[in-house]
Amino acid sequence: MEYNFPVTRTTHPKARPADETKLGFAKYFTDHMFCMDWDEGLGWHDGRVVPHEPIAIEPASCVLHYAQMMFEGMKAYRTPSGEIQLFRPDMNAKRMARTNERMCIPELPEELLIAGVKAVIKEDIDWVPTAPGTALYVRPFIFGDEVSFSVLPAKHYRFMVILSPTGSYYAANDGGITTTRIYVQKKYIRAAKGGTGYAKVGGNYGGGMRASQDAMKYDCKDVLWLDAAEHKYVEEIGTSNAFFRIADEVITAPLDSETILPGITRDSVIQLLKYWGMKVSERKLSIDEIFEAEKNGTLQEIFASGTAAVISPIGWLNCEGEEHQVADGKVGPVAQKLYDTLYGIQTGTVEDFMGWTYPLGLKVE
Ligand SMILES: Cc1ncc(COP(=O)(O)O)c(C=O)c1O
Repeated sequence: MEYNFPVTRTTHPKARPADETKLGFAKYFTDHMFCMDWDEGLGWHDGRVVPHEPIAIEPASCVLHYAQMMFEGMKAYRTPSGEIQLFRPDMNAKRMARTNERMCIPELPEELLIAGVKAVIKEDIDWVPTAPGTALYVRPFIFGDEVSFSVLPAKHYRFMVILSPTGSYYAANDGGITTTRIYVQKKYIRAAKGGTGYAKVGGNYGGGMRASQDAMKYDCKDVLWLDAAEHKYVEEIGTSNAFFRIADEVITAPLDSETILPGITRDSVIQLLKYWGMKVSERKLSIDEIFEAEKNGTLQEIFASGTAAVISPIGWLNCEGEEHQVADGKVGPVAQKLYDTLYGIQTGTVEDFMGWTYPLGLKVE
């Protein structure tokens, strides 16, 4: 279906960030945003592109009190020929459907998600950055804004898409990748079975901030989350999935506990490693097994995967003040190959041999 959303263009376009190598992560926002409403009986209606500006929200809106909301994260990339493309947006739509089901938020069809994203990128196409390591971060989100203090699903929702030209989350200055230090979190947990860990909802992140703040005291960028029941098995790294290369096996936590966010980069990493003939296991891995591998010299690499950072290698783990170095503390070959391949496919400099890119039919002239 072709959507033709009305557009109200800003009368005050912002200055573009002067230096694309210093974009940081989500520091700048573009000129426009997409908005759409949902009402009982009407469904999703009134999609529109409007200037990116503060929105009015009734202070008694349920999202501000009970956090009935969800969000997604993807990136738009500019290829060398000026085409704008997304990376596996069908996977974002599928994850959004599972999140919405969990949060009692009305389903948003995949074609509507992509149409909203496309409509706003079309207006802000000249904001898609081109410097190495950069992309246009796309943040779709939905929240219930019914005026109600009943702890019940809202009867009115807003779907919005905002855009931010960004560098990589943990980028090296040249846009490449570099190792970081991660804190093994033994006190706080991110998600428990039966909770919302597998869904992309704000509460998961608000609840994680205490742990990340504590990690910073140890000069760590983020935390390695352990399972809620035993504080033993590795789950995720900050807001990314986690991979461990021990001897000839690459291991990541399985999704069946429903405490792990099923990352699109995670799935892509697994598929690429299998394509390259490497042994990949989705299995439980204890923190003790990792330290054992460190001792006997078989711990080769640890890296995180996610849309924001693509691949983020870990050089050191800090566990209750004790430092553990991962191999030589430098970027490992598998992390580097994955980063080069994924970011290359995303930006159109490496052939898309997996069929993952989604051209939006928009081109920078
Ligand atoms: C908790 C968490 N885990 C993993 C990921 C990685 O998911 P993706 O690769 O889809 O960005 C994210 C980021 O979205 C996240 O917030």
